[in-house]
Amino acid sequence: MKFFGIELYVEKLPKHIGIIMDGNGRWAQKHNLPRIFGHREGLKTVRRIVEISAKLGIRCLSLYAFSTENWNRPKDEIESLFSLLRNYIKLEKKMLKKNNIKLIVSGDISKLDEKTKILLQNLIEELRNNNGLILNLCINYGGRQEIITAVNKILSSEIKRINEEEFKNFLYTKNLPELDFLIRTSGELRISNFMLWQIAYTELYFTKTLWPDFTPKEFVLAIKEFQLRERRFGRLK
Ligand code: IPE
Ligand code: IPE
Ligand code: MG
Repeated sequence: MKFFGIELYVEKLPKHIGIIMDGNGRWAQKHNLPRIFGHREGLKTVRRIVEISAKLGIRCLSLYAFSTENWNRPKDEIESLFSLLRNYIKLEKKMLKKNNIKLIVSGDISKLDEKTKILLQNLIEELRNNNGLILNLCINYGGRQEIITAVNKILSSEIKRINEEEFKNFLYTKNLPELDFLIRTSGELRISNFMLWQIAYTELYFTKTLWPDFTPKEFVLAIKEFQLRERRFGRLK
């Protein structure tokens, strides 16, 4: 199949793509605007990337929206981010429905304010029978927090020994395919506590493009690059 003139192999599509959506603040700064405008612009990219993922037939898209460390930002920025999330839910409901998208959340949402929590839960409920793209919003998510939560669940169970397959079932991603591909925008070369367990054999893609400037075309180009990589998983060619 061809998108933006780029030929993709259907049988080699990543099943699960993660994105560290970074660079909203710098985008705003570049345009002499307050940071919140960058986040607002970033949401437009979210819309476009979710839509193209559904069109491409990607199984699962994990978007890092708010990390456990992002609580250390100024209060008004945090409030704006959640207010934008509430707007997103209200505005995108129709599009998510139309595209047969199912929504799940990774992260500890018990820490969110009631309004946001209820909106999120209602949307998850409304989309639960969809069987197209799984949109995994990572909110108040941290890789270490995820692992510790898993360990604590195990400690309070009967389990005395555990293997990798079983451990996986205690993570937020338990029902999702392996994370094949991770994209980070904005030029930072780090993981920032995202999917620490899942990332073991993930192919990484870093681009200097700031998240608000990240286009569906660059997304397709990134997937093209993924398709050209040789994944060996420790084996020989
Ligand atoms: C990413 O953009 C969005 C979130 C972390 C919520 P940033 O806000 O981190 O943008 P920069 O890194 O300051 O440019
Ligand atoms: C990572 O971006 C978190 C999200 C995109 C939600 P940050 O901007 O918070 O990461 P650092 O601080 O540059 O590592
Ligand atoms: Mg950042």
